[in-house]
Amino acid sequence: MHAEIKIFEDKERVAEAAARRWFEIYKESVEKSGSFFVALSGGATPRLLYRFLSRPEMAKKIDWKRVHVFFGDERSVPSDHPDSNFRMAKEALLAHVPIPRPNIFRVETEVSERREAAFRYEQRLIETLPETDDNVPQFDLVLLGVGVDGHTASLFPGTDILQQKKRFFDAVYVKQKADWRMSITFPVINHARHILFLVTGSDKKAIIQKILSPSRSGPLLPVQMISPLGQAQMYLDADAAGKIETDSVATKPNSNDPVSP
Ligand code: 6PG
Repeated sequence: MHAEIKIFEDKERVAEAAARRWFEIYKESVEKSGSFFVALSGGATPRLLYRFLSRPEMAKKIDWKRVHVFFGDERSVPSDHPDSNFRMAKEALLAHVPIPRPNIFRVETEVSERREAAFRYEQRLIETLPETDDNVPQFDLVLLGVGVDGHTASLFPGTDILQQKKRFFDAVYVKQKADWRMSITFPVINHARHILFLVTGSDKKAIIQKILSPSRSGPLLPVQMISPLGQAQMYLDADAAGKIETDSVATKPNSNDPVSP
């Protein structure tokens, strides 16, 4: 998987730069089609980004009626559960900005049959998103994190969803979590106009080293299986980047950026 890497001094700077990038892609998308379709990632890392986006000086620059928010994956928990990706995004962003409720596409985790819940969500992707020439729902931006085992979204090593080439969103039993997850699949990720990975923290240093220096032997990690047809970027903080060489070590943002505190 090829991605432009940018390294920032800490996770706050990563979040600040990611908010700027989010805003750039939002503007470009709205100019292009009048709408901005984004898949939010879950876990802990993106919370800071969502908080930056909800800051008044940033939020007021966005026409939230034109923003359509989906989730790249969801856990098998109620939407008000502490582990819910929807709940995290709602608390950090969605409850603080004037985005119309119909523009927020929550995975219906109350549907107990996970494959049915995933099928319904896939239908909403198909009905709502523009599609590519090869009939794949296309996001303007897919936000992704990376787990310490190289998973991204809920595409975990050794799970059958990694081979899923026809479905756009599916349920998968993740033995590592002893539970079901629901996730976008590689076809949707690969067809996104922009992919932005956010990876911070020293616990991610080992996996970043592994991703960026793929060994000749052994299966590819899920994150390495992504073949972006659009633009892919990976924003790292120094802790996650460790000693990797890159041509683009980011500097401090200048003060007139929309997200500068
Ligand atoms: C999830 C995410 C998952 C996440 C990675 C990294 O539902 O957990 O979609 O893919 O991005 O596990 O999580 P952290 O940001 O918490 O390290």
